[in-house]
Amino acid sequence: MSEKIAPADTCVLVTGGAGFIGSHTVVELLSGGYKVVVVDDLSNASRKVFDRIKTIVGDDAAANLTFYEADVNDRPALTKIFDEHHPDRVIHFAGFKAVGESVSKPIEYYSNNIGNTLTLVDVMREHGCKSIIFSSSATVYGDPDSLPLTEESPKKMATNPYGWTKWMIEQILTDLHTADPEWNVVLLRYFNPIGAHPSGLMGEDPKGIPNNLVPYVAQTAIGKRDAVHVFGNDYDTPDGTGVRDYIHVVDLATGHVAALAWMNGRQGVEIFNLGTGTGTSVLQIIEAFSKACGHEIPYVIEARRPGDVTANYADCSKARDLMGWEAKFNIEDMCRDSWNWQSHNPNGYEG
Ligand code: UFG
Repeated sequence: MSEKIAPADTCVLVTGGAGFIGSHTVVELLSGGYKVVVVDDLSNASRKVFDRIKTIVGDDAAANLTFYEADVNDRPALTKIFDEHHPDRVIHFAGFKAVGESVSKPIEYYSNNIGNTLTLVDVMREHGCKSIIFSSSATVYGDPDSLPLTEESPKKMATNPYGWTKWMIEQILTDLHTADPEWNVVLLRYFNPIGAHPSGLMGEDPKGIPNNLVPYVAQTAIGKRDAVHVFGNDYDTPDGTGVRDYIHVVDLATGHVAALAWMNGRQGVEIFNLGTGTGTSVLQIIEAFSKACGHEIPYVIEARRPGDVTANYADCSKARDLMGWEAKFNIEDMCRDSWNWQSHNPNGYEG
């Protein structure tokens, strides 16, 4: 049984804490009174996010934040950080996440995502820290047989190396608990995180051309892109376009704080879906974003994107019943906050 500790006495090491979901989670952790150590190599994030975090949480809470610019796969660096801080819990976000890129760079994806996880859990074990929350993904459900998806829905073959890394890391962490039941593992399966901090100070800052729908819509709304490319309108959905369960990044962040509280004093492996339970189509997103930004957003219909599923959305009753967590923001809120971020920071953190 892992020891039960109060937030003020809990040091949480957050890998990838400068990234989109990581940074929003760090804000919620600091606001919840936790001590936070971020390890991020800034390969897909900006150091400037830390000033924004400080502005949001205030000086007192920000005093509980330490940042190390390091690769999680750099064992000597990670060991030094563990020696110094003795983290009680780890939230593991760090990883490459571009689905298309993973197809052309499988070695980089497997080596980075799986390699850094193996290094991390080994260093954790050496330091007697056996509590980990892992950023998994609804991608492990593949093309669903039925909706909504519960945690009991079968895992399917992944369609790309990125998806396989999520799939395999879930298995690795589960095997770790089988070998040593003292491990306390929470696998959080995210649906589609969008939105931004309501303050307009933090949001998604993709490098280059966005792969995901909402960042692309946001850049089209601001005039950086000519039109949204809608990947297929012949799916078996009400308007023919793909349906996803979009979740506000702040809701996702509070889901991690709920998971930390829930796992406190436990051991085992538990899986939770983090979504809203509502499916929204590509055209509905474009419409909601048009309302948020106050003008029409141009779009063109294109061929389907290989590997995309028709529809997925979550049953989130397990997270509600066990952790007392529920998403609070709707699609209008998500588009409003994305637009607020995009319009005030047209070039992201470097703007
Ligand atoms: N889409 C477009 N045009 C675009 C981008 C996307 O029409 O320019 C469509 C897609 O076809 C899909 C929907 O918008 O129907 C959402 O696509 P995203 O790329 O935003 O998100 P995905 O559902 O493909 O993938 C996301 C995460 C993955 C994760 C997966 C889990 O990006 O990391 O959800 O289901 F694995």
